[in-house]
Amino acid sequence: MKYVRMPIEIESPEQMGYSNLKYNLTESSFSDFKFKDLNLNLNELILCYGDHVGNINLRKLIAKSAADTINENNVLVTAGAATALFIIATSLLEPNEEIVVMRPNYATNIETPRAIGAKIKFIDLKFEDQWLPNLNDIKSKISKNTKLLSITTPHNPTGAVLPKNLFYEIINLCEENNIYLLCDETYRDMSYVEKLPSAASISKKAISVCSLSKTFGLPGIRIGWLITQDENLFEKFLAAKEQIMICNSVLDEEVAKQFMQNKDSIYKDVMKKIKKHFEIVSSWIQSEPKLEWVEPQGGVVCFPRIKKTIKIDLEKFYKTLNSKHGTFVGPGHWFEQEKIYMRIGFGWPTTDELKAGLECISRALDESVE
Ligand SMILES: Cc1ncc(COP(=O)(O)O)c(C=O)c1O
Repeated sequence: MKYVRMPIEIESPEQMGYSNLKYNLTESSFSDFKFKDLNLNLNELILCYGDHVGNINLRKLIAKSAADTINENNVLVTAGAATALFIIATSLLEPNEEIVVMRPNYATNIETPRAIGAKIKFIDLKFEDQWLPNLNDIKSKISKNTKLLSITTPHNPTGAVLPKNLFYEIINLCEENNIYLLCDETYRDMSYVEKLPSAASISKKAISVCSLSKTFGLPGIRIGWLITQDENLFEKFLAAKEQIMICNSVLDEEVAKQFMQNKDSIYKDVMKKIKKHFEIVSSWIQSEPKLEWVEPQGGVVCFPRIKKTIKIDLEKFYKTLNSKHGTFVGPGHWFEQEKIYMRIGFGWPTTDELKAGLECISRALDESVE
């Protein structure tokens, strides 16, 4: 494995120190919950090694939220979606083997195959295509050597959601070509359009990945999961998990389990805030003459760009935005894109912080016109 630190991690708010960011619009999750707000009872918890697959009651809740056809034996609990993605990539790819993956993407979906030394063929998503892939383009990238096709929906950093027919066509394509589909559905619960089924519930070839970090603002408990109906594959993934970590933290799993028992009531409040913040960003973009976007269909991020007709000194823009206005976004290079693109996270900040941060982006743009 050739590990290289990714810009999105080196420049992340955790590494810069949250207190150094006045308006933090870099986050891709809902606001982090406080322990005391979760009303948990942990006193009887025994701090033993846990079930290697994951707490059984937690797995039952996850299976239920995925699909009727999924049961607890199809669910492997992992330390966040990030570990699930790592387990899948390292289990299914060898150096020089082929993966077809969307770009831009959540950086790990590209970087882990790269670290393995896999041959990567990109589905380069474009603003002009609403950040959606084209089936013929995907077909043209698949060869007899392809092992894995990797998609993300709802998508990070753009918020695009695959149309249902395309989603099914992609699954069929994987079955026809006998390749695995990795579907990163970390934002599945956060669709503003019709929620897609969990990919793993449709086909044995599809592996779904999800987590509590993004929609539910619980990144600190590091609980995610993968789902597959393929028993042999499941066994392989479990072997990988056991070699990496044996089992999850039982404390994290217990928090996750109790949280998921209450998830539906919390979810309503989450979506209320997301809707409100989406409207704020939407009206700001419409009134901001220097930016354009593809309206997100899910998630808590959008990926607008500076209009190509507007000449901005990009270095000056980001410097002014960060140093003078204390405002931070995810610049395009976090996602292997030009810096005219920026990811704006609107689910994490308070309403006042969001409004002030957006205003600062407008000011920094005005101050950086060439
Ligand atoms: C699409 C996507 N997948 C996976 C992850 C990893 O999330 P976690 O490991 O916190 O569950 C992220 C985090 O930003 C993400 O956006």
